[in-house]
Amino acid sequence: MTTASSIDGRLFQFVGSIDAPFVAGSFVTTEGSSAMRHVGFVDDVTLTDGGALSGVGRVLGEIDADGNLSTTHVGSFFDVALHEATADVIESVYRAADATLTVGSLVQTPEIEAKLIPHRFNRHTFWCGQSGSGKTYALGVVLEQLLIHTALPMVIFDPNADFVRLNELRSDSDADGHRALRARDIRVLSPGGQGSGALRARFRDFSIQSKAAVLRLDPVADRDEYNALTRVTGLGHVDREGIVPALRAADDPAGDLLVKRVENLRLADWTVWAYDSADVNKVLDERPDATVLDIGGFTFPGEKLVVALAVLDHLWAKREERRPILIVIDEAHNLCSPDNDTPLHRAVRERIIQIAAEGRKFGLWMLLSTQRPSKIHPSILSQCDNLALMKMSSPVDLAELATIFGFAPESMLARSPQFQQGEALFAGGFVPAPTLLKVHDRLTHEGGSDVRVPLR
Ligand SMILES: Nc1ncnc2c1ncn2[C@@H]1O[C@H](COP(=O)(O)OP(=O)(O)O)[C@@H](O)[C@H]1O
Ligand SMILES: [Mg+2]
Repeated sequence: MTTASSIDGRLFQFVGSIDAPFVAGSFVTTEGSSAMRHVGFVDDVTLTDGGALSGVGRVLGEIDADGNLSTTHVGSFFDVALHEATADVIESVYRAADATLTVGSLVQTPEIEAKLIPHRFNRHTFWCGQSGSGKTYALGVVLEQLLIHTALPMVIFDPNADFVRLNELRSDSDADGHRALRARDIRVLSPGGQGSGALRARFRDFSIQSKAAVLRLDPVADRDEYNALTRVTGLGHVDREGIVPALRAADDPAGDLLVKRVENLRLADWTVWAYDSADVNKVLDERPDATVLDIGGFTFPGEKLVVALAVLDHLWAKREERRPILIVIDEAHNLCSPDNDTPLHRAVRERIIQIAAEGRKFGLWMLLSTQRPSKIHPSILSQCDNLALMKMSSPVDLAELATIFGFAPESMLARSPQFQQGEALFAGGFVPAPTLLKVHDRLTHEGGSDVRVPLR
């Protein structure tokens, strides 16, 4: 028999025989003579020298005979028998937390569904796993659930065209989820798109700082050119009809240098500029349910950064309107790695750091996905309250995650190298307790799945 005790009604210890069924991540209940039983969650299990099993966990609440979970005023208990929680009990835990996003099933007990808490996406989320671990696929599953169950609009920075078919369902089923997704307004903007499907940003709308970043100008090191820019900045576009003729006409040597800069950077050849047509922010201001930005398809590396800067500057400028939006950035190291150092990279990263630090209360919530924690600026990581971890083999990276995300039990993080594709650890505010799960299948089509080796 395994028995558990808790001094404070918050944490508990247990000891039992070696064949006890508990592992880190197990939901457990105590056996009690009264109708109330404690519900808990195992954080860590170790073998004692004497060959027994010992472990620690946290108390989630007390459950009554009708399956109602109460999380207030949980008292201490001493030497009570501990059992695996049944599916009903786990279901009560999810119900009490309003966890409704069914994203997968528990690895331990696959017959039980794993659920996330939708209203806790009002925090920043960090999503990590090595390449091929299934991050983008699983992210798609979560975004579908958010689309089905919430009215939270999302903008998705999609560098590999993985989400460009988010508006196409894989089956014509009439199930609730499918019907809900079919009714959602999902827009896909691409560099080659026509009309309102084109992914464009307007240079004229940029602040002087962002214009300078596009032009790689430093206000002090390049003071003459920067100054020339401030004099033409109201004039509009970065092309032959825009600031270039104005600079030439000014008969100013600094203006001539700035023209050469525009020409050498080939800014007029960038297809990202909207000129007088609709830009990405016009679409976002309408707040479609989801807006997919296919940022990988541009010719010049700076163009995806221009889109990111345009969108993030705009959302930040309008933050006082407090219109919530989930900003999803797949392969987020493209936009906020501590190592990228062009002025445009810096401008985008600074804006992301600012949104990470201050965006929460304005409804600017981010979900950042990448392969290694070190690829994201530490000031951003430290602001994330939700963690999704998929397979990651590097012990250094796992140790770093353990340091930053103290709420994720180390014993569960340590299982990550053994994860199969599609398995994930979810921890933090958006789950009632840290959860190992295998994601369900996607309902919509993946855009760019892996290329297969051609066989004869
Ligand atoms: N849970 C899953 N079920 C089925 N296929 C998956 C699953 N997860 C990933 N895949 C497939 O594996 C490949 C890599 O997954 P992906 O999500 O792109 O990985 P990552 O984003 O971590 O590099 C893709 O072709 C994807 O279709
Ligand atoms: Mg991916």
